[in-house]
Amino acid sequence: MTTRPRAPIAVALDAPDVETAAQWAQAVTPYVAVVKVGLELFCRTGPSIVETVRGGSGVDLFLDLKLHDIPNTVAGAARGVARLKPRYLTVHASGGADMVKAAVESAPDVTIAAVTVLTSMSADALAAVGIQGLPLDAVRRLAALAVGAGAGALVCSPQEVAAVRSEVGAGIILITPGVRPVGADVQDQARVATPAQALADGADLLVIGRPITGARDPGAAAAEIAASLSR
Ligand code: C5P
Repeated sequence: MTTRPRAPIAVALDAPDVETAAQWAQAVTPYVAVVKVGLELFCRTGPSIVETVRGGSGVDLFLDLKLHDIPNTVAGAARGVARLKPRYLTVHASGGADMVKAAVESAPDVTIAAVTVLTSMSADALAAVGIQGLPLDAVRRLAALAVGAGAGALVCSPQEVAAVRSEVGAGIILITPGVRPVGADVQDQARVATPAQALADGADLLVIGRPITGARDPGAAAAEIAASLSR
């Protein structure tokens, strides 16, 4: 067990079943501050997965459900999952200011993290859904909208984090997926940054999945990345 503070990393527990998710969580929680349960694992296993992965570790839970519906429905969903006591809950900023506000108001003890533009969306894909111009402009616009509606955190790519920080200022938690240690396989992530670079650019919490969970020893991989951040 490390005596260092837990690193600002959220390990994405994109596991095929409850047992694997629980094993990964147990292995990494001595080293990282947060574990992330995504839509797929949550839908497959149900809400009890949150308590299973938290165990007795006291790790913060990131519930990545990316809610997007009319404000009343999002409010009800956010209130429902707030009972699970996640530290973070994601919603889509593109649901609009009233929707983000509804989530914030119905889950006051949860930090609502707004997703600006999915990193899977190219400029052409955005234009096809009516969002013209540079993706970064849409990211900045949606970041400002979400923060104005009360979101305490934003999810953005490492390439966008510096621009988003300049848009929203200090005090908003910036969460970045697409993080890869030097030399790691980038897999299907198109735009990546190293953990140190993402933090230097203004990120507060790094979402890292397969470089840790795909390692032979996920605990050792988490410890190594955590140690690299404090060097
Ligand atoms: O394995 P990897 O490190 O690529 O995992 C990244 C995690 O972050 C996954 O759970 C993925 O769904 C999530 N994510 C992402 N890009 C976004 C938003 C979330 O990769 N824009």
